[in-house]
Amino acid sequence: MANVDTTFGELQTVPLTLIILAFLTAGFILHYYILEPLLYGPLSHIPGPKLASLSGHYLTYHDISLRRNETISQWHRKYGPVVRIRPNEVTLGNPTDYREIYDTKSRYDKSKYFSRFAVYGEDNLFSTLKYTDHQAMKRQIAAAFAKSTVVAKSEAMVRERVEAYLEAMMLEQKTHSVVDVFVLFDCFSHDVMTRFLYGEKHGTDTLLSSQDRPLVVNLKRSQIWTPLWVNFPTLHTYWLGRKLLPKEYVKNGEYGADVKRRIESLMDAHDADKGSNEDEMFSLYGHMRKGAKLNRDKMASEMFDELKAGQMTTASTLTYTAWRLSRRTQWQDKLRTELLALRPDDDGKLPLAELETCPVLEAVIKETLRLHPAASGRQERVVPPGGRTYSGLYVPEGTTVIGPTLVLHLDPDVYDGPLEWRPERWLDASEEKLKSMEYSHVPFGHGARVCIGQHLGKRYSSL
Ligand code: HEM
Repeated sequence: MANVDTTFGELQTVPLTLIILAFLTAGFILHYYILEPLLYGPLSHIPGPKLASLSGHYLTYHDISLRRNETISQWHRKYGPVVRIRPNEVTLGNPTDYREIYDTKSRYDKSKYFSRFAVYGEDNLFSTLKYTDHQAMKRQIAAAFAKSTVVAKSEAMVRERVEAYLEAMMLEQKTHSVVDVFVLFDCFSHDVMTRFLYGEKHGTDTLLSSQDRPLVVNLKRSQIWTPLWVNFPTLHTYWLGRKLLPKEYVKNGEYGADVKRRIESLMDAHDADKGSNEDEMFSLYGHMRKGAKLNRDKMASEMFDELKAGQMTTASTLTYTAWRLSRRTQWQDKLRTELLALRPDDDGKLPLAELETCPVLEAVIKETLRLHPAASGRQERVVPPGGRTYSGLYVPEGTTVIGPTLVLHLDPDVYDGPLEWRPERWLDASEEKLKSMEYSHVPFGHGARVCIGQHLGKRYSSL
């Protein structure tokens, strides 16, 4: 009996422990990752694709394939006004729910997603999450974007850039049989934005100067990777960015460093002449220097963010407008007739105020922004304490909610033939129909975080 081998007994107990552990782990995974999200979790009653309820990567796949907004629109057509697009994320396709989440009185915070838009170590208006912090920041800079300021101070500058644009187009025509208007609109928007932000003396001339043009090339190179860095910031910035990609392709990359150098030199010049330069004082920088108590990095962060927000959106709107007009040429004729009937000023130029009285121009821009809303559509907010009910469905606090612009803009109950570009819908509609179309038309967002640059964006899209 003394020689009995006890190892056999020990061997038996080890697998048993392992088996129990494996069962517990499988049970936990089944409960936490499959049954809870699908059957009894706090969002399990919200309709949507099953895969989207199980993993955020399902939507990430559509995002990286550049089909995010179209896919969410399809899901809304299938599942109704409230759709679960990620395990903890819901989109709302009803314009009344849309207003509830963005309205000033609702005071929703932004989701953590926006933190990644901080730059130079500082938050800016766009990346500020807390409602109250955002309002405080907005009060410091809003005056620079008031409609009266934009019209009075930017008109001559924008007009001068329109002339530079035409010159650049003529030059291109001499050497190329086809002119790529997207590139030129990118440059035009960049020059307008930098002049608006820094003042004319420090603004860029990417349209006509070969020294400045690489700035826009570098901006586009870093933007190619946007879907990757917004979804996998660590992978992109630390692995691809540090080890594999050339610097100009990384988030903000060479472009961000170049812009920072320009902003620093603008600030040094301003300090040297004690901010007496009238031209610069009308810029956003001038406004911040005069009224706001912000440190240098904070001002640089604000200017960089405005530059990116305003440059990309207006360049894309102008390009889509040109493309749509090239496909329905009768609208070019209507526009020409309307514009030729306007009264020019003593210099033979059309004042901006005159362009505001042009229904055809307005309809063309509105319809283009309806089908091609230039912002990302990812306007995430967090449901406040106590939760909220949208279109009859309760959504608990802490859930991320989004009012996806394209879903509202493509609603067939509001817009007949929603996928067709028809400016006439804005001109021929009955009063009631027009009211419902206006209610669902939100290319610049709504409420507390409505686009601060909308007056500038609208006006130079019309020039
Ligand atoms: C066609 C042109 C434009 C479109 C369609 C557009 C669209 C939008 C939208 C939808 C938002 C709301 C985002 C949200 O709710 O989270 C927004 C915010 C913003 N836009 Fe624009 N934008 C345009 C032009 C501009 C311009 C020219 C500027 C700068 C001068 C600008 C600067 C901003 C900033 C700073 C915000 C953040 C505002 C805040 O959080 O308070 N945008 N834009």
